[in-house]
Amino acid sequence: TVKYLKDYTAPTHLVPKTDLLFEINEQYTDVWATLHIEPQNGATELVLQGDVKLISIKKNDETLPETAYSLNPNDETLVLPNMPTEPFTLTIHTQVEPQKNKSFNGLYESEGNLYTQCEPEGFRKITFHPDRPDVMGEFTTEIRANADKFPVLLSNGNKIRSGSLNDGRHFAVWHDPFVKPTYLFALVAGDLALTSDFFITQSGRRVVIEFYTRQADAHQVAFAIESLKNSMKWDETRFGLEYDLDIYMVVAVGDFNMGAMENKGLNIFNTKYVLADSQTATDADFEGVEAVIAHEYFHNWTGNRVTCRDWFQLSLKEGLTVFRDQEFSGDRASRAVRRIENVKLLRTHQFAEDASPMAHPVRPASYVEMNNFYTMTVYEKGAEVVRMYHTFLGEEGFQRGMKLYFERHDGQAVTCDDFRAAMADANGFDFEQFALWYSQAGTPTLQISGSLKKNGGNLDYVLRVKQILPDTPDMPASQKQAMMMPLAIALFNENGEKGAFKLPNDDNSYNETILIVNQAEQEFVLREVQQSVTPSLLRGFSAPVHLQFDYTNEQLALLLAHDDDEFARWEAGQTLLRRAIFANETALQQGNDLPQNPLLIQALRNILNDNNLDAAFKAMLLQVPAEAELWGERDHINPVQTTMAREALLDEIAHALHGELLATALNARESENADKRGKEIAFYEYNPKDAGLRALQYACFPLIHRFDEAATIEQVFEHYDEMARKNMTHEWGVLSSINSNASAKRDELLARFAAKFDHQALVMDKYFSLIACSRRADTLVQAQAALNHPRFALDNPNKVRALIGTFARNVPHFHALDGSGYAFVAQHIKKIDAFNPQVAAGLARAFNLLKRIEPQRQALMRAELEAIVALPSLSKDVREIVEKILA
Ligand code: ARG
Ligand code: ZN
Repeated sequence: TVKYLKDYTAPTHLVPKTDLLFEINEQYTDVWATLHIEPQNGATELVLQGDVKLISIKKNDETLPETAYSLNPNDETLVLPNMPTEPFTLTIHTQVEPQKNKSFNGLYESEGNLYTQCEPEGFRKITFHPDRPDVMGEFTTEIRANADKFPVLLSNGNKIRSGSLNDGRHFAVWHDPFVKPTYLFALVAGDLALTSDFFITQSGRRVVIEFYTRQADAHQVAFAIESLKNSMKWDETRFGLEYDLDIYMVVAVGDFNMGAMENKGLNIFNTKYVLADSQTATDADFEGVEAVIAHEYFHNWTGNRVTCRDWFQLSLKEGLTVFRDQEFSGDRASRAVRRIENVKLLRTHQFAEDASPMAHPVRPASYVEMNNFYTMTVYEKGAEVVRMYHTFLGEEGFQRGMKLYFERHDGQAVTCDDFRAAMADANGFDFEQFALWYSQAGTPTLQISGSLKKNGGNLDYVLRVKQILPDTPDMPASQKQAMMMPLAIALFNENGEKGAFKLPNDDNSYNETILIVNQAEQEFVLREVQQSVTPSLLRGFSAPVHLQFDYTNEQLALLLAHDDDEFARWEAGQTLLRRAIFANETALQQGNDLPQNPLLIQALRNILNDNNLDAAFKAMLLQVPAEAELWGERDHINPVQTTMAREALLDEIAHALHGELLATALNARESENADKRGKEIAFYEYNPKDAGLRALQYACFPLIHRFDEAATIEQVFEHYDEMARKNMTHEWGVLSSINSNASAKRDELLARFAAKFDHQALVMDKYFSLIACSRRADTLVQAQAALNHPRFALDNPNKVRALIGTFARNVPHFHALDGSGYAFVAQHIKKIDAFNPQVAAGLARAFNLLKRIEPQRQALMRAELEAIVALPSLSKDVREIVEKILA
């Protein structure tokens, strides 16, 4: 059944207090939930949500006969038709089997310990409750368990009591003074190591920080703890937001469906985003830990203190919190590089989603399974929407809006419109039309052209901007209205200098400005410009759109050399690279010789030789767009042809710039080593500067290796141990750059890597992803063999994502013309769906290219998808995705 935003009605009953008692036993856990219920407007029929074994119900301490209620397994409801209109309590006894729960939703066991995941609708797997985010309450939770097996007993808020019981059991009682929805409830019970620290808030309160891990992992939490303290500090200084409880706990678990969860006072994290040391984590992993720790911490205000009225509003908390974590990372280091990374992610995955049958607005209008809507659109496009408010209002105006938002809504469950109203009202800014970003799906395209016009003795530059909105499955373009967005621009002259201009009815001179695009077609006049104009458009990626402007290659090279907006500069280079790949594709299709790209090569040479460029930024400039990024606006995709065209360009660059690449890489290595030389032990720890130098090395090495593959593998083979000793970034960099090499030596290195890290689960994930992303001919065979590796486990989400998820992004192998890649992924979707629908549904998204792909492959994909939907026991998670793709 489909749920619609337009059908929202206020809750008939509130539950301001919930008291929980968990009795943890060997085989099952008993749960007693006492709900203090307040009927609204004389309602008598109470509907609770639950998908859990019901033992008994008491109303105000009297057991209800079975005739007093009905259970409907179809929609997972418990209906109690004749309840009082005055406040009353229900005490509900349920029983769950966490040991059998491999969906990692609700209460589940992992390596002998118990954990919960309740967002969005996991609480109903534990007990019966309205289980909707606008029913908020205060929670008290008592946990009882065997003291040897479960020495640690945790839940939200403060521990108010604990002690021992008979039979070797003990208990703890937790109370969370802040009202919250059920999705923020959490419980952890088990044998875990504690690492503690503290943070003094700006008002001088002492907050205890506790991180819980397996004993063997405790030495890997230091970086995450530092990141948490940095996040707490940053939220105080940049947003004026202070932490509110006296304790902040983070628990790491190896079986987790997503990244992490912001449960009030008790975050639960995928180990991938907590554990990091330089021997096991790459620089990118460290950055991931820092960002996710920050993200979950920032949810305490944007998500927990102010939450969502209903799940359609998910982007209210996620878009805003992603924006906040992006800003945090940008303030920490390398702002421009972080921004480009975010844009790459958005373009590669969110633009693809927007162009697929799964397209939906930032605020979806309907869903079947809410778990399917934790999407790139809700998170990443949602963050871009928040960023646009910020671009319109500036930092001060945006902060005024945030302040009003909290003044109005602290402790409430609200909508995206409430957020928009706070931004508008705090600044007297009209965001009426801006609401369309929440209701219209699809990526807009801005078609822009510019021309010089005489105006008396002066020159005007006229920009003509046309916005084109695409058809999406939910709404034809003809029903869509022109959207409002900021377009940041500047004008460059032929020397690469920013030229001054004036705006209409304004005598000030500017050299950059933000135009407000808000019509289907409009003109902007920039007055008193210079003779030669190259516009720099959509600076900082000021709106999440496709941009079309008829640049000459020379103009792009000019911007690439001189633009002072790093995003625009990088984008000029990317456009040149894309053009070169598309030209190769056309040549391949027509059987012509591949064109040469002297202008592009010279531009890249200049970059490689430029000693003033920041290393991390230089590494970004050298990155050739991946296939999925190239397909952005395309309707007809021949995937393997794109790969061939792209590989041909990589070969051209590798051969033309071999000397410069080698010099750049060795220079970067030299700089990285410089401050470590002479030390008894050289530390290769994560820090942004060294990370940038390493990023540059490994932007160059794969290209260098193309030059002479045979010689390279010999060298790598010899130096592998030395590189591996430095840190995981080097080890991973080396393995990645030779991972597609066909020689047996590559296999031997991977085998050594796997043997060395046999007992480091997160590093074994890296091993499986190396197997799955190799472009070698035998990748499918190796991936199939890896399924039987003793460290592989189909019921562990990280392992599945590392092996099967990575394979599904390996273009030549997933899209193999014999259909073997599609079959491999489809087979595992079916297997995994039987116990973990969320992970299976995630894999199913790999097929969302279906309609845009060439006919032969499309038929093969379709056959696999049809076999999946034919399964009678298929989950609604996978069914919703696959049916949409096929529709
Ligand atoms: N709220 C969590 C986070 O961002 C993610 C929860 C995802 N839940 C899910 N069912 N997919 O930060
Ligand atoms: Zn989040």
